[in-house]
Amino acid sequence: MSWHATALTLFPEMFPGTLGHSLAGRALREGKWSLDTLQIRDFATDKHRTVDDTPFGGGAGMVMRPDVVDAACAAALADGVARPLVYMTPRGRLLDQAMVRELVAGPGIILVCGRYEGLDQRVIEARGMREISVGDYVLSGGEPAALVLLDACVRLLPGVMGGATSAEEESFSAGGAPLLEYPHYTRPAEWDGRAVPDVLLSGHHAEVARWRRGMAEAATRERRPDLWSRRTPAGALSN
Ligand code: ADE
Repeated sequence: MSWHATALTLFPEMFPGTLGHSLAGRALREGKWSLDTLQIRDFATDKHRTVDDTPFGGGAGMVMRPDVVDAACAAALADGVARPLVYMTPRGRLLDQAMVRELVAGPGIILVCGRYEGLDQRVIEARGMREISVGDYVLSGGEPAALVLLDACVRLLPGVMGGATSAEEESFSAGGAPLLEYPHYTRPAEWDGRAVPDVLLSGHHAEVARWRRGMAEAATRERRPDLWSRRTPAGALSN
């Protein structure tokens, strides 16, 4: 059985969405992973197929009912495979590559996409959902966040991407926080009055590697001091 993703959503037509045009889409067609969607509204029990209601305590927006979301979760889990339930929410833990690697190592994922003000807290707790955010900004729904998470997962599945790329990435993220990537160049060697750095044309592999390492470190230090401080606790590691 390949890695399997199920999206619980009010907008199943958003899947696979842009993923269908990417590397992940090709891998999907090749059976390297599989995807299905469940329409949360199909689990409503009243004749109006209600999925949400006003928040207790007042305030703006609507909250998704716990009973309806719970029934959708039960349907997704009915195959007996213990896939983690992941609720996409800006209240969640910030997604990083370590979380992606962990999710890819399992049998798959069940993605819960909320709309409105989100899910009733009780179903999040009752189902032991992992809450994940894709960044400190608010989307109008969990679906684009779920597509981001899926793309990040699928590219790590065996046979989806060239081994070289992933191996390279591992070496950069080994032992703590990752570095940002070094800058890339291709032909022409001079374009618009701008030359490619000489060292990249030199053919000296060790020097190229050293230059790239330096550029990666400089970019990380300048752009992401949070990452930089996590990998150099004692100010060491500058060679
Ligand atoms: N839903 C709305 N905003 C989100 C975010 N930033 N991350 C994950 N899910 C979301």
